[in-house]
Amino acid sequence: MSSFIQLDLTYVDPFIRQEEWACIAPQVRAAARLLENRQGPGAEFLGWLDLPDRYDRSELRRIKAAAGRIRRQSQVLVVIGIGGSYLGAKAALEFCLPTPPIASPKRRKKGHLQICFAGTNLSQTYLRQILEGIGERDFSVNVISKSGTTLEPAVAFRFFRQLLEERYGKAGASERIYATTDRSRGALRTLAEREGYETFVVPDDVGGRFSVLTAVGLLPLAAAGIDVETLLHGAAEARRRYRSASMEENDALRYAAVRNILYRKGKLIEVLVGYEPRLLYVAEWWKQLYGESEGKDGKGIFPAGVQFTSDLHSLGQYLQDGRRHLFETLLDLYTPEEDLPIPATEDDLDGLNYLSGKSPAFVQRQALRGTLEAHVAGGVPNIRLSIPEAGPHCLGQLFYFFEKACAVSGYLLGVNPFDQPGVEAYKKNMFRLLKNTPS
Ligand code: PA5
Repeated sequence: MSSFIQLDLTYVDPFIRQEEWACIAPQVRAAARLLENRQGPGAEFLGWLDLPDRYDRSELRRIKAAAGRIRRQSQVLVVIGIGGSYLGAKAALEFCLPTPPIASPKRRKKGHLQICFAGTNLSQTYLRQILEGIGERDFSVNVISKSGTTLEPAVAFRFFRQLLEERYGKAGASERIYATTDRSRGALRTLAEREGYETFVVPDDVGGRFSVLTAVGLLPLAAAGIDVETLLHGAAEARRRYRSASMEENDALRYAAVRNILYRKGKLIEVLVGYEPRLLYVAEWWKQLYGESEGKDGKGIFPAGVQFTSDLHSLGQYLQDGRRHLFETLLDLYTPEEDLPIPATEDDLDGLNYLSGKSPAFVQRQALRGTLEAHVAGGVPNIRLSIPEAGPHCLGQLFYFFEKACAVSGYLLGVNPFDQPGVEAYKKNMFRLLKNTPS
């Protein structure tokens, strides 16, 4: 089996005519050239294109050293950030080291670093649970904010900084706070320099949702023990593989093309499908990447995510039979497992003894095949992306594949994929209310 992710359009073909491919091919070529030649809208934010190969090696060494220090000094790492300053690390962590549904004794063993995320919402309950959950354990903080002024992480950071200073004193706290922020500007940069925190850089030319392969993602991942060099390697291989401006040679371009063909014929929603819980946050990361990059100026495919087979029991009806304005992208993750044979029962009351000796993984595979065929028959085009293994190498490829496709797709749509003017509207209202409403 190839160790590279593979795009399969077999289950989209029945929905697309040859002339649609022919018409979009020159547009795709032009969009890809615009991107590679850095001549399109938002060209000042293309640092992510070369990142896997041109990563600042001295910063990478510092990241690995800091990760080692965090593991030695703490049992808990609180990662504070939101949006693009959170979702990539969370996605990679869950993909490579999925949280088990029940904490195993192995996970609780001495020396294991527990990573939790704060500043991802404004829930007081959630914040209190973390503050109390740390208990007597030693902890460190990685505060991540490119602007340094985002409300949610800034509020959360106040609490953890205060707790650190109470527990370890000002100097001790400074040794446990790692700040990932702009190279020279912003409130967090100013604070970090004043207090002597170790700092890491979010490059000027990399926007939040494209920043997973910078220190934003790499420091928490390295601290978790994930091999970040392998992650970068996977992305670097993808960079070479998805460089061509020809759709025939480049799966990222074919993915961008196919979703735009479908969008133009009324498929307004893309549903990312996963069968493994470890894909849940990959879908969350992907939703931000595509939603924030494409949803503007009255345009854009709405990115949604589902977890099968559980969502087949909630959204399955709609997907099979509801309004035909959607298509699915299936993340088909190969997960070889040691055999876990389904037991036989004497009474066979549920009538499932014909499955005894087979594994849940086998059952899942048949569910996947059956669902794919049913949805296609029901009028839902399915893009299939096979992921050969659940490790950092394939994840690096996947991150780069989606980023590249997203940029090209945005240009095909006629938007600037690298800005996000729409997120300011609610903030304006919120800050007005915060300043004018008595508590
Ligand atoms: O993609 C984006 O730009 C956003 O999601 C930001 O990452 C998010 O708002 C956090 O911003 P900051 O890193 O400045 O705190």
